[in-house]
Amino acid sequence: GPSLARDHAEAATLDDLRRDADACMRCDLYRDATHLVFGEGPQNAEIVLVGEQPGDKEDLAGKPFVGPAGRLLDQCLEEADVDRGRCYVTNAVKHFKYQMRGKKRLHARPNAGEVQRCAWWLGAELELLKPRLVVALGATAVSSLLGSKIKVMRDRGHIIRPAGEVDILVTIHPSALLRIREPDEKERSRLAFIRDLKKIRSFLRH
Ligand code: URA
Repeated sequence: GPSLARDHAEAATLDDLRRDADACMRCDLYRDATHLVFGEGPQNAEIVLVGEQPGDKEDLAGKPFVGPAGRLLDQCLEEADVDRGRCYVTNAVKHFKYQMRGKKRLHARPNAGEVQRCAWWLGAELELLKPRLVVALGATAVSSLLGSKIKVMRDRGHIIRPAGEVDILVTIHPSALLRIREPDEKERSRLAFIRDLKKIRSFLRH
């Protein structure tokens, strides 16, 4: 995949990279977004969590996973006994893509070109972080990191390692849980997500 392209040597630190990213015009999504939402977390993180793209709340705050999906992610990580504070949290796409519906900004899915252009930044983050495990949350992160051959519902819970690259745990996106209405199904899906997240623990050394 494009994730660990080896041509990001200009930015020596994540702070440098974030400053470069703030000026990104690699695709058109910067035009309507409030903030570029870069990744956040310790420079020495062993685990990198990758979502899809910032939502409404993240776009306003300039921080990843601070809205409803982020709260659910935090709860599930806690139940899986993984400290979010030790993870670097980022997204496959760094600007919020949306459509206006009345006064509401509704999430719109990033297209393949937007995902591909933004993979340059994700690759640069991974190259600087050199994590032990990357967790792909949902289809957009999976396609950015692993391409189209890996399918979330077929491959979830598996750790995949493309040749010469880092281990990647495939799982669902927490927003998928928010959309389930039926209580038993919601709980089953939540527990399955936590079961996937527990696989993170053996990658934490300290
Ligand atoms: N959903 C994502 O994929 N990322 C965020 O940062 C927030 C919601």
